[in-house]
Amino acid sequence: MQVNKEVNLNEIKVIQAPLAGISDIVFRSLIRKHKSKCLMTTEMISSEMLCNNPNPRIIDFAEFEYPLAFQLVGHKIDKMVRAAKILTPFASLIDINCGCPVKKVVVSGDGCAMMKTPELACDIVQAIKEETKLPVSAKFRLGWSSNEENYIEFAKALEKAGVCFVTLHSRTRSQLYSGCADWNKIKLLVDELNIPVYANGDIKSVEEAKNCLDLTKCKGVSIGRGIMGDFTLPYRIERYIEDGTIIDEPDLSLKIEMLKTHLKLEVERMGEKNGIKFMRKFYNYYISSYKNASKYRSVLVTLEKEEEILKVLDEILLVHNKNG
Ligand SMILES: Cc1cc2nc3c(=O)[nH]c(=O)nc-3n(C[C@H](O)[C@H](O)[C@H](O)COP(=O)(O)O)c2cc1C
Repeated sequence: MQVNKEVNLNEIKVIQAPLAGISDIVFRSLIRKHKSKCLMTTEMISSEMLCNNPNPRIIDFAEFEYPLAFQLVGHKIDKMVRAAKILTPFASLIDINCGCPVKKVVVSGDGCAMMKTPELACDIVQAIKEETKLPVSAKFRLGWSSNEENYIEFAKALEKAGVCFVTLHSRTRSQLYSGCADWNKIKLLVDELNIPVYANGDIKSVEEAKNCLDLTKCKGVSIGRGIMGDFTLPYRIERYIEDGTIIDEPDLSLKIEMLKTHLKLEVERMGEKNGIKFMRKFYNYYISSYKNASKYRSVLVTLEKEEEILKVLDEILLVHNKNG
């Protein structure tokens, strides 16, 4: 495949945050379909796994997705470099995962555990840059716990090692996803660095993006869960940043259309059984604004045929429209 994989970082205001088990090629294609120019990111890819199997399904990608960052997770320099080399023909940039809090990831020294070994993280950045000539970025948290916040020192070391930007998920590892992301700390980081900082955590609407940008003065935003159930969000944020245009959030009818397309594409990609199982993670996000959401969600997650799901979705819309 011949693609222009160059990324013009000056133009990137929105990054689609990596979401393991969520942000696959279908997810990313639907973001592009809804007109966003954001930097796409793959789900985290284990460097160990990629070295053992250089052609896994997780690295499926398409021409229309560019610019596209591939995110690597791992802590062994040789494996990280080898994995980055495998990805070099396809990647606009390599993002290093220094933020994943999941136990089975951090026990081996990967993900957020890398914040405890900043020198190693810097060596990995330098080695990948040298061997691939690709831009390298990093995504991390505030630190391991509230008593061990080292995001500023960590980011400064990475800046020195040559990362082109950083993304800060402003929670600690101990918080996992609880509490609120502390955007004030993103502001502190912006003041300390000379490279762009992207703000991450709890940005689920144009208004929240605006508030976060106003507060932090960061280069742009990285959004994850906010896109689940609304593929228009990255474009709507970009339009707000570009010229102040505020585009309304899609209504239930548009969300259900999106959900039907998402379901159809995943069933085509994975087959009916696996596609339907995969889609169970999304129903809540798509229909959460609907007042009977929980009742319908508990029905949707039990269904095993695409046809039955489509019927329930039509019923949700019918009831919703009837009740005004
Ligand atoms: C299901 C799920 C999977 C995730 N997978 C990754 C991942 O592969 N790599 C990564 O750096 N962060 C991952 N994250 C963290 C998100 O990228 C993001 O930092 C976090 O969800 C906060 O941003 P949000 O509030 O916009 O969702 C994941 C989060 C969730 C909920």
